[in-house]
Amino acid sequence: MNKGMKVSDRLQSVPMSGIRKMFDLAKPDSINLGLGEPDLEPPAEAIRAMAKAAEEGKNKYSPTAGIPELRDAVAARYARYNPDLKGKNVIITPSGSTALLEISQAFIDPGDEVLVPSPGFVIYAPHAKLAGGVPVEYRLTEGDFQPDIDYIQSKITSRTKMIVVNNPANPTGGVLSEENRNALADIAKDKGIMILSDEVYDSFIYEGKHSSFLPYLDRAVVAGGFSKMMAVTGWRLGFAFADEECMDALIKMQYHVCASPSMPGMYGVLGALPGIDPYIENARKVYKARRDLITKRINEIEGMSLIPPRGAFYAFPSYDMDMPSQDLANELVKAGLICTPGSAFGTFGERHLRFSYAASEEKIDKGMDILADTVRKIRGGRI
Ligand SMILES: Cc1ncc(COP(=O)(O)O)c(C=O)c1O
Repeated sequence: MNKGMKVSDRLQSVPMSGIRKMFDLAKPDSINLGLGEPDLEPPAEAIRAMAKAAEEGKNKYSPTAGIPELRDAVAARYARYNPDLKGKNVIITPSGSTALLEISQAFIDPGDEVLVPSPGFVIYAPHAKLAGGVPVEYRLTEGDFQPDIDYIQSKITSRTKMIVVNNPANPTGGVLSEENRNALADIAKDKGIMILSDEVYDSFIYEGKHSSFLPYLDRAVVAGGFSKMMAVTGWRLGFAFADEECMDALIKMQYHVCASPSMPGMYGVLGALPGIDPYIENARKVYKARRDLITKRINEIEGMSLIPPRGAFYAFPSYDMDMPSQDLANELVKAGLICTPGSAFGTFGERHLRFSYAASEEKIDKGMDILADTVRKIRGGRI
């Protein structure tokens, strides 16, 4: 290869996602509890509205920040967390992932330190690095997976630019307490640090309530998404909230990333959003039943333990075998079950596995049979 084709040092410094790696190892008929992708169908209104928009010729570039009707509709929905929200506080993005990338590119300078949750979603640290920043992991408490506020305080330096918060959380299913939300908001204010709050799972809380950072747009930018809310992961549409000044920066960055989000897709989600509550209510009921099932099945396995996750659709149990999570996940793949090793989510994810329960109860049951059998064999010294 011509040496001019060398991949940038920045990109080489980040790994490929550990979630995707497991699929390459899997057998074709494996039970897949590895992917954070709803198995439900999207709302029919969304599909109809997207098809109609495309048929009616809405196939051109949109305004960079997204169509105003959708910006207004997102603001109206999220006014439940901040009554002052307006469409001008919303940018529609080509996915929640892109919103997170644009936020990191818009606000992080080389050398800036970015506190990222550990265990935490796999793109926060790479995004910090791709912007030239330095990711610094902060620990979540075991069991209820709250940000460890003292630990965070101890990691703050004069170079700390941003604290990334994920609520409800992937991979842990943790739901941020109001007390900890307030503590983080106070730290951000006192120390002049920005919060990036990833709230793409806000629709899926089974106990407790959502403590959003939307009331704190003077110190936080909030990311959201349609992928999980409406089971439209393939449409690639998300959004972010910011005050007007920060919004200007995000719109400028979005122009340079993608010019604008998908026009028919935006009309699609707009067709469903104002009446989405019954759809979400049903999805929440379905996921809660699966959460209860997977929690029961995991806690019946000797050597594994799970406090019921309160949000999102992930179970993140710990185990007591003396074995790295990657090795355990490899044994499970060999036995026909795909999950994700806790180590894929950072240093403090080790000794855990992540199972997505956005899959049918039948698949969850079969997967848990494989898990129980494999763990029994390992503990019995038969693997
Ligand atoms: C915590 C979290 N944030 C953001 C995303 C990005 O979702 P999308 O890009 O599909 O909007 C995901 C996807 O799995 C996620 O788990």
